[in-house]
Amino acid sequence: MLSDPSATASSRRDLSVCLAHMSDPHLPPPTIAWSAFLNKRLLSRILWVSRRKHVLLPSVTAELLENIASHKELSALLISGDITNFGTKEEYRQAAAWLSTLPLTPVVVPGNHDFMAPISYRNSLAQWETWSDSAFPFVRFFGRVAVIGLNSALPTPPFTAYGRIDRKQRQKLASLLAKLGEEGYCRVVMLHHPPRKKLLPFRKSLINTPALSSLLRRHGAELVLHGHSHDATITTVEGTDIPLLGVGAAAMNSQNPERRASWNHLTFTPHEEGWQIRLIRRDHTGHPFSHMEWFSSISARQPAC
Ligand SMILES: [Fe+2]
Repeated sequence: MLSDPSATASSRRDLSVCLAHMSDPHLPPPTIAWSAFLNKRLLSRILWVSRRKHVLLPSVTAELLENIASHKELSALLISGDITNFGTKEEYRQAAAWLSTLPLTPVVVPGNHDFMAPISYRNSLAQWETWSDSAFPFVRFFGRVAVIGLNSALPTPPFTAYGRIDRKQRQKLASLLAKLGEEGYCRVVMLHHPPRKKLLPFRKSLINTPALSSLLRRHGAELVLHGHSHDATITTVEGTDIPLLGVGAAAMNSQNPERRASWNHLTFTPHEEGWQIRLIRRDHTGHPFSHMEWFSSISARQPAC
């Protein structure tokens, strides 16, 4: 059940939910045992020291978070992965301490950097369970908005950073989307790797994009959020009209507005037959660099069978 058809514009606004979306903060690593780098992480460490640490600045992330904190209407902060650089136990602990100090309740899914090499659950996602879950997909409710977190990250060979949503997650996602859609929830799906070709080279892409996109087309979703590309793109899930939003890496120091650190300021307002979704893309200083609004009709995306 969505809002009462006779509801006034102001009463609908009262039911609005505002969420922030950011991604890829790549926190500067703490001291890490050298033994943790006797694998693919070594290449990443070389890249971090030679290049990434000079453009991914914690001061930029801090400014972005300060800006998010100034928006008192926000209910939660959605983070689509790559909080760490090498996915070590030391970084998971550091990230947990960082998450516990954020100005808003975080909701987190992991990225490829968080699973750069095999790591036990106890030393990895167990540290973030308060803000994520032990099993995926998980759901967090903010009013009538349901945020569904997926895990697309897995250890991959050197020079690759692809992701996948396995069959078990897809099966659970299908029934979740169908149920939440029938109940009139606004379904916001979040994962690290974008389900669309050509946003990234194949070696960094979601390799089973066709399987996930056809599931989303069949069961519907109002919005899909991703990280990984470090680009503030607005497009659609492959083969569907479901909006797909990327975001600049939260630490990225760049002059290019599409690449510099940014966050998505989202407002969801219920209507009789769907959801009005408003997006303001802001850079880390709070400057809005684009604004758009659209209507998402739930009935148009009901499954055919
Ligand atoms: Fe990534």
